[in-house]
Amino acid sequence: MLLFFINTLFSFEDDNSFITKYEYGAMLYNNPRGIGCNKCHGNGKKSVTIAKYRDKKGALKTIVAPPINKVKFEDFKSKLKSDKTESLIMPTYFLTDEELTSLYYYITKVK
Ligand code: HEC
Repeated sequence: MLLFFINTLFSFEDDNSFITKYEYGAMLYNNPRGIGCNKCHGNGKKSVTIAKYRDKKGALKTIVAPPINKVKFEDFKSKLKSDKTESLIMPTYFLTDEELTSLYYYITKVK
């Protein structure tokens, strides 16, 4: 597994590593061993409407992916580790703590 390989080869203590924590986070964001976060959250800075539909009573419903650049780390982590989300839309991921840390670093610093 490429990510595992990269993970064990480089440390992310500082940004002088071969690939920076930011770049690694960006890579995970777009390709997190599953559907990319970007597919629903865009760049993560604003809410994205994923779908609009009418329920049985004909009321218009929307499914929205919220902005994620200001979420607290604990909330982020519990979200990414939970196996079912309240919307049943966001998929389940199996990312290591180190991957989550890099991903979070990227999300909160995305330009
Ligand atoms: C298929 C669409 C989809 C994908 C792909 C997706 N999300 Fe989400 N995400 C959602 C939706 C919808 C919500 C809001 C409802 C919920 O919490 O399930 C959400 C909620 C969140 C939240 C909680 C935000 C808050 O304010 O509490 C975080 C954090 C998050 N996503 C991060 C991610 C990350 C990181 C990835 C990639 C590893 C990702 N999401 C991939 C649709 C998606």
